[in-house]
Amino acid sequence: MNILIFGPNGSGKGTQGAIIQKKYHVAHVESGGIFRQNIKGGTDLGMKAKEYIDRGELVPDSITIPMILDKLKENACSEGWLLDGFPRNVAQAEALDKALKEAKLKLDYVIEIKLDRQIAKERIMGRRLCVNDNNHPNHIAFDAIKPVEKDGKLVCRVCGGELNTRADDQDEAAIDKRHDIYYNDTTGTTAAVNYFKALSGPKFISVDGSKSIDEVSQALLSELN
Ligand code: AP5
Repeated sequence: MNILIFGPNGSGKGTQGAIIQKKYHVAHVESGGIFRQNIKGGTDLGMKAKEYIDRGELVPDSITIPMILDKLKENACSEGWLLDGFPRNVAQAEALDKALKEAKLKLDYVIEIKLDRQIAKERIMGRRLCVNDNNHPNHIAFDAIKPVEKDGKLVCRVCGGELNTRADDQDEAAIDKRHDIYYNDTTGTTAAVNYFKALSGPKFISVDGSKSIDEVSQALLSELN
Protein backbone atom coordinates (compact mmCIF):
# COMPACT_ATOMS: atom_id res chain seq x y z
CA MET A 1 0.00 0.00 0.00
CA ASN A 2 1.45 3.37 -1.03
CA ILE A 3 0.08 6.49 0.66
CA LEU A 4 0.68 10.24 0.56
CA ILE A 5 -0.29 12.23 3.65
CA PHE A 6 -0.80 15.99 3.50
CA GLY A 7 -1.75 18.48 6.19
CA PRO A 8 -0.57 21.86 7.44
CA ASN A 9 2.53 21.84 9.61
CA GLY A 10 1.36 20.73 13.05
CA SER A 11 -1.88 19.11 11.85
CA GLY A 12 -0.92 15.63 13.03
CA LYS A 13 0.68 14.03 9.96
CA GLY A 14 3.47 12.50 12.03
CA THR A 15 1.04 11.38 14.75
CA GLN A 16 -1.38 9.72 12.31
CA GLY A 17 1.47 8.44 10.15
CA ALA A 18 2.86 6.49 13.12
CA ILE A 19 -0.58 4.91 13.73
CA ILE A 20 -0.96 3.91 10.06
CA GLN A 21 2.58 2.52 9.98
CA LYS A 22 1.88 0.33 13.01
CA LYS A 23 -1.32 -1.07 11.50
CA TYR A 24 -0.19 -1.60 7.91
CA HIS A 25 3.57 -2.12 8.38
CA VAL A 26 4.46 0.33 5.63
CA ALA A 27 7.65 2.39 5.75
CA HIS A 28 6.96 5.87 7.20
CA VAL A 29 9.09 8.21 5.10
CA GLU A 30 9.22 11.68 6.69
CA SER A 31 11.17 14.29 4.75
CA GLY A 32 11.55 16.54 7.82
CA GLY A 33 12.69 13.57 9.92
CA ILE A 34 15.37 12.65 7.36
CA PHE A 35 16.66 16.23 7.45
CA ARG A 36 16.69 16.27 11.27
CA GLN A 37 18.63 12.97 11.39
CA ASN A 38 21.21 14.47 9.04
CA ILE A 39 21.44 17.65 11.10
CA LYS A 40 21.99 15.57 14.24
CA GLY A 41 24.64 13.50 12.45
CA GLY A 42 26.43 16.64 11.20
CA THR A 43 26.33 15.48 7.55
CA ASP A 44 26.78 17.85 4.59
CA LEU A 45 23.11 17.39 3.72
CA GLY A 46 22.13 18.27 7.29
CA MET A 47 24.28 21.39 7.33
CA LYS A 48 22.81 22.60 4.05
CA ALA A 49 19.23 21.82 5.13
CA LYS A 50 19.50 23.45 8.57
CA GLU A 51 19.72 27.02 7.35
CA TYR A 52 16.49 26.66 5.36
CA ILE A 53 14.63 24.76 8.09
CA ASP A 54 15.55 27.32 10.77
CA ARG A 55 14.08 30.08 8.58
CA GLY A 56 10.89 28.10 7.90
CA GLU A 57 11.75 27.81 4.21
CA LEU A 58 11.69 24.75 2.00
CA VAL A 59 14.99 23.00 1.49
CA PRO A 60 15.73 23.45 -2.27
CA ASP A 61 14.10 20.99 -4.66
CA SER A 62 17.53 20.09 -6.07
CA ILE A 63 18.35 18.50 -2.67
CA THR A 64 14.92 17.27 -1.57
CA ILE A 65 13.55 15.63 -4.73
CA PRO A 66 16.44 13.18 -5.35
CA MET A 67 16.70 12.47 -1.61
CA ILE A 68 13.07 11.29 -1.43
CA LEU A 69 12.97 9.52 -4.79
CA ASP A 70 16.10 7.56 -3.79
CA LYS A 71 14.57 6.71 -0.42
CA LEU A 72 11.50 5.18 -2.10
CA LYS A 73 13.80 2.82 -4.02
CA GLU A 74 15.25 1.34 -0.81
CA ASN A 75 14.34 -2.21 0.28
CA ALA A 76 12.53 -0.90 3.34
CA CYS A 77 9.96 0.67 1.01
CA SER A 78 9.41 -2.37 -1.18
CA GLU A 79 6.32 -3.50 0.77
CA GLY A 80 4.70 -0.06 0.68
CA TRP A 81 5.24 3.40 2.08
CA LEU A 82 3.57 6.37 3.67
CA LEU A 83 5.13 9.58 2.43
CA ASP A 84 4.83 12.44 4.96
CA GLY A 85 6.09 15.96 4.18
CA PHE A 86 6.67 15.39 0.46
CA PRO A 87 5.59 16.76 -1.99
CA ARG A 88 5.36 20.31 -0.67
CA ASN A 89 5.08 22.24 -3.94
CA VAL A 90 4.00 21.67 -7.53
CA ALA A 91 7.52 20.91 -8.80
CA GLN A 92 7.87 18.14 -6.18
CA ALA A 93 4.38 16.82 -7.02
CA GLU A 94 5.21 16.59 -10.72
CA ALA A 95 8.58 14.94 -10.02
CA LEU A 96 6.95 12.34 -7.75
CA ASP A 97 4.12 11.59 -10.17
CA LYS A 98 6.62 11.14 -13.02
CA ALA A 99 8.90 8.89 -10.94
CA LEU A 100 5.97 6.69 -9.83
CA LYS A 101 4.78 6.30 -13.42
CA GLU A 102 8.29 5.43 -14.61
CA ALA A 103 8.68 2.83 -11.83
CA LYS A 104 5.11 1.55 -12.53
CA LEU A 105 4.29 2.09 -8.87
CA LYS A 106 0.66 2.55 -7.90
CA LEU A 107 -0.34 5.29 -5.51
CA ASP A 108 -3.27 3.90 -3.50
CA TYR A 109 -4.34 6.73 -1.18
CA VAL A 110 -3.94 10.46 -0.84
CA ILE A 111 -4.83 11.72 2.63
CA GLU A 112 -5.44 15.34 3.52
CA ILE A 113 -5.75 16.40 7.16
CA LYS A 114 -7.62 19.69 7.22
CA LEU A 115 -6.87 22.14 10.03
CA ASP A 116 -7.30 25.83 10.67
CA ARG A 117 -4.03 27.76 10.55
CA GLN A 118 -4.22 29.20 14.08
CA ILE A 119 -4.93 25.80 15.64
CA ALA A 120 -2.06 24.29 13.66
CA LYS A 121 0.25 26.99 15.01
CA GLU A 122 -0.80 26.25 18.61
CA ARG A 123 -0.20 22.54 17.98
CA ILE A 124 3.32 23.28 16.77
CA MET A 125 4.24 25.59 19.63
CA GLY A 126 2.95 23.25 22.34
CA ARG A 127 4.49 20.09 20.84
CA ARG A 128 7.07 18.35 23.02
CA LEU A 129 9.29 15.61 21.59
CA CYS A 130 10.34 12.58 23.55
CA VAL A 131 14.05 11.78 23.21
CA ASN A 132 13.23 8.04 23.14
CA ASP A 133 10.56 8.19 20.42
CA ASN A 134 9.37 11.22 18.45
CA ASN A 135 6.04 9.49 17.94
CA HIS A 136 5.09 9.52 21.63
CA PRO A 137 2.41 12.24 21.56
CA ASN A 138 3.06 15.03 24.08
CA HIS A 139 1.47 18.47 24.03
CA ILE A 140 1.37 20.99 26.86
CA ALA A 141 -2.14 22.27 26.00
CA PHE A 142 -4.11 19.03 25.57
CA ASP A 143 -5.09 17.09 28.70
CA ALA A 144 -5.27 13.77 26.82
CA ILE A 145 -1.59 13.98 25.81
CA LYS A 146 -0.13 16.28 28.47
CA PRO A 147 3.40 15.41 29.61
CA VAL A 148 3.64 14.28 33.24
CA GLU A 149 5.63 15.95 35.99
CA LYS A 150 8.53 14.12 37.59
CA ASP A 151 10.98 15.72 40.05
CA GLY A 152 9.70 19.16 39.05
CA LYS A 153 10.26 18.50 35.33
CA LEU A 154 7.89 17.62 32.51
CA VAL A 155 8.63 14.19 31.05
CA CYS A 156 7.07 11.99 28.35
CA ARG A 157 3.63 10.72 29.31
CA VAL A 158 4.28 7.42 27.49
CA CYS A 159 7.76 6.38 28.69
CA GLY A 160 8.98 9.01 31.17
CA GLY A 161 11.72 10.09 28.74
CA GLU A 162 13.19 13.57 28.59
CA LEU A 163 11.32 16.09 26.41
CA ASN A 164 12.70 18.53 23.84
CA THR A 165 11.31 21.22 21.58
CA ARG A 166 12.28 21.67 17.92
CA ALA A 167 14.09 24.96 17.25
CA ASP A 168 11.81 25.69 14.26
CA ASP A 169 8.73 25.16 16.46
CA GLN A 170 9.29 28.14 18.74
CA ASP A 171 9.90 30.84 16.12
CA GLU A 172 6.52 32.36 15.19
CA ALA A 173 7.82 34.07 12.05
CA ALA A 174 9.26 30.78 10.77
CA ILE A 175 5.99 28.96 11.57
CA ASP A 176 4.04 31.61 9.63
CA LYS A 177 6.36 31.11 6.65
CA ARG A 178 5.85 27.31 6.81
CA HIS A 179 2.08 27.86 6.82
CA ASP A 180 2.26 30.41 3.96
CA ILE A 181 3.89 27.68 1.89
CA TYR A 182 1.31 25.07 2.95
CA TYR A 183 -1.80 27.15 2.25
CA ASN A 184 -0.49 28.49 -1.09
CA ASP A 185 -2.80 26.99 -3.72
CA THR A 186 -0.88 28.33 -6.73
CA THR A 187 2.56 26.76 -6.37
CA GLY A 188 2.70 25.61 -2.72
CA THR A 189 1.56 22.52 -0.86
CA THR A 190 -2.19 23.07 -1.33
CA ALA A 191 -1.50 23.17 -5.09
CA ALA A 192 0.34 19.83 -4.69
CA VAL A 193 -2.69 18.42 -2.82
CA ASN A 194 -4.94 19.55 -5.68
CA TYR A 195 -2.55 18.01 -8.22
CA PHE A 196 -2.95 14.56 -6.63
CA LYS A 197 -6.66 15.07 -5.90
CA ALA A 198 -7.24 15.52 -9.64
CA LEU A 199 -5.61 12.16 -10.55
CA SER A 200 -8.03 9.36 -11.31
CA GLY A 201 -6.01 6.51 -9.68
CA PRO A 202 -5.62 7.06 -5.95
CA LYS A 203 -8.51 7.30 -3.48
CA PHE A 204 -8.63 10.77 -1.93
CA ILE A 205 -9.44 10.91 1.79
CA SER A 206 -10.05 14.18 3.61
CA VAL A 207 -10.33 14.23 7.41
CA ASP A 208 -11.07 16.95 9.97
CA GLY A 209 -7.85 17.36 11.97
CA SER A 210 -9.47 19.43 14.72
CA LYS A 211 -10.87 16.28 16.40
CA SER A 212 -8.98 14.21 18.99
CA ILE A 213 -6.11 11.95 17.87
CA ASP A 214 -8.35 8.86 18.26
CA GLU A 215 -11.23 10.40 16.33
CA VAL A 216 -8.94 11.44 13.48
CA SER A 217 -7.34 8.00 13.28
CA GLN A 218 -10.73 6.25 13.37
CA ALA A 219 -11.95 8.45 10.51
CA LEU A 220 -8.78 7.70 8.56
CA LEU A 221 -8.52 3.98 9.19
CA SER A 222 -12.18 3.46 8.27
CA GLU A 223 -11.34 4.71 4.75
CA LEU A 224 -8.17 2.64 4.23
CA ASN A 225 -7.98 -0.86 2.66
P1 AP5 B 1 8.49 18.62 8.97
O1 AP5 B 1 9.28 17.79 9.88
O2 AP5 B 1 7.69 17.93 7.92
O3 AP5 B 1 7.65 19.58 9.89
P2 AP5 B 1 6.25 20.31 9.70
O4 AP5 B 1 5.62 20.03 8.36
O5 AP5 B 1 6.44 21.71 10.07
O6 AP5 B 1 5.30 19.76 10.71
P3 AP5 B 1 5.27 18.37 11.26
O7 AP5 B 1 5.27 17.39 10.13
O8 AP5 B 1 6.32 18.18 12.27
O9 AP5 B 1 3.85 18.39 11.96
P4 AP5 B 1 2.85 17.21 11.94
O10 AP5 B 1 1.77 17.54 10.96
O11 AP5 B 1 3.58 15.93 11.75
O12 AP5 B 1 2.22 17.30 13.39
P5 AP5 B 1 2.42 16.34 14.65
O13 AP5 B 1 1.87 14.97 14.37
O14 AP5 B 1 3.81 16.42 15.19
O15 AP5 B 1 9.43 19.65 8.16
C1 AP5 B 1 10.37 20.44 8.83
C2 AP5 B 1 11.12 21.29 7.82
O16 AP5 B 1 11.90 20.45 6.92
C3 AP5 B 1 10.26 22.15 6.88
O17 AP5 B 1 9.85 23.37 7.46
C4 AP5 B 1 11.22 22.34 5.68
O18 AP5 B 1 12.17 23.34 5.94
C5 AP5 B 1 11.94 21.01 5.61
N1 AP5 B 1 11.25 20.09 4.69
C6 AP5 B 1 10.53 18.98 5.02
N2 AP5 B 1 10.01 18.41 3.92
C7 AP5 B 1 10.41 19.16 2.85
C8 AP5 B 1 10.16 19.11 1.44
N3 AP5 B 1 9.39 18.15 0.91
N4 AP5 B 1 10.72 20.05 0.66
C9 AP5 B 1 11.51 21.01 1.18
N5 AP5 B 1 11.76 21.15 2.50
C10 AP5 B 1 11.21 20.24 3.33
O19 AP5 B 1 1.41 17.05 15.67
C11 AP5 B 1 1.73 18.32 16.22
C12 AP5 B 1 1.44 18.32 17.75
O20 AP5 B 1 0.03 18.20 17.94
C13 AP5 B 1 2.06 17.16 18.51
O21 AP5 B 1 2.40 17.59 19.81
C14 AP5 B 1 0.95 16.11 18.59
O22 AP5 B 1 1.09 15.28 19.71
C15 AP5 B 1 -0.28 17.01 18.69
N6 AP5 B 1 -1.44 16.46 18.02
C16 AP5 B 1 -1.49 15.78 16.84
N7 AP5 B 1 -2.76 15.49 16.52
C17 AP5 B 1 -3.54 16.01 17.52
C18 AP5 B 1 -4.95 16.04 17.75
N8 AP5 B 1 -5.81 15.47 16.91
N9 AP5 B 1 -5.39 16.67 18.87
C19 AP5 B 1 -4.51 17.23 19.74
N10 AP5 B 1 -3.17 17.22 19.57
C20 AP5 B 1 -2.69 16.63 18.47
